[in-house]
Amino acid sequence: MTRKFELQPFEADQAAPVDLRALYELSVAALRLDRPDPVVLDYDDWVASLRQLAPSLGSRGYWIARRDGELVAKAVVYFPPDENEHLALTAITVAPRRRREGVGTAVLKAVLPELEARGRKLVEGWELSKGGPGAQWAVAVGMRISKSTIAQTLDIRDVDPVLWDVPAPDGFRVAEWVGAAPDELVASYARALHVMRDAPAGDSEYRLAEWTAERVREAEARHRERNVVQRVVVAVSEATGEVVALTQMDLYTDYPEWAVQQDTAVIPADRGKGLGQWVKAHMLRALLAERPSIGKIYTNVNADNEYMIRVNEQIGFTTSRSTVGVSAEIAELRRLLG
Ligand SMILES: CC(C)(COP(=O)(O)OP(=O)(O)OC[C@H]1O[C@@H](n2cnc3c(N)ncnc32)[C@H](O)[C@@H]1OP(=O)(O)O)[C@@H](O)C(=O)NCCC(=O)NCCS
Repeated sequence: MTRKFELQPFEADQAAPVDLRALYELSVAALRLDRPDPVVLDYDDWVASLRQLAPSLGSRGYWIARRDGELVAKAVVYFPPDENEHLALTAITVAPRRRREGVGTAVLKAVLPELEARGRKLVEGWELSKGGPGAQWAVAVGMRISKSTIAQTLDIRDVDPVLWDVPAPDGFRVAEWVGAAPDELVASYARALHVMRDAPAGDSEYRLAEWTAERVREAEARHRERNVVQRVVVAVSEATGEVVALTQMDLYTDYPEWAVQQDTAVIPADRGKGLGQWVKAHMLRALLAERPSIGKIYTNVNADNEYMIRVNEQIGFTTSRSTVGVSAEIAELRRLLG
């Protein structure tokens, strides 16, 4: 029997209520199966969250797949801007009851021409559970494991805040802001952000930004456009007045109990002085004082980044799962999939 398979662009604002509901059920069933620690939103919050996009990852494509009329999968693809215009960050999710029937492979095959049509050369998937269905499937269809990462979570209720009483290292003061760096710090903040390029990143083809003050302002504007609040804590050298360490936290209005720990960096000349732990501990105290609703903080770190993993553990994060990133050239995958 030939089964009718269709991939369709999905627009939350125009979707029929019955399709939105079916997509919600597919998403929740997959989350419960695939994640040890799923964050399950109720229906209304989930619908609202469809409109809230990660600020740094560019525009998003959203497709749904039907087989014989039944909604069987979704594909969510980010098209990152600037130095990552070669990449399509792709997440395909198949309804648990329709797995191992070739659906995931059919969705990938159908979506690849859409990615090429947008000028993308490489496809990557991130944060797949190590050894799990996504990673095994990706390798089976011809992708390679390109980075090893770990997901860490800090459960506020399980942590004694005494862990965040970290004394200030001599010669530094703290500065902090929400949304926009002060003019007098933005240039040195951009230079400190630039050292993120030293962080281990495996063989992922994702290129970190060439930060300048102007690009910091653009990134801040993208956060505002997407309604994501970014809180930043930095260490400033008393001697030079420059930012030498930083940490960033993103707060999504649709996830009032969650915060996402973003970049943390210390410039090479000031490593080994406890600045990373200090700014992160300060961030947690400030965050909790302002948003007591926060229950969990999530972060993802390269598995080789022993320093960052240790600092996170010192302030109460625990490893929730080991994850991998997968990559492939689109042209090569299309050839393999026929
Ligand atoms: C990964 C995922 C999309 C696969 O979808 P699927 O429709 O079940 O996959 P397919 O039927 O096309 O599988 C093709 C091949 O991949 C391999 N594969 C798929 N799932 C596997 C699993 N759980 N364990 C081992 N191999 C697996 C097999 O070789 C399979 O061929 P076979 O069934 O003939 O042995 C699905 O498991 C899923 O939604 N996982 C959660 C989200 C995710 O991790 N997505 C990947 C991110 S891009």
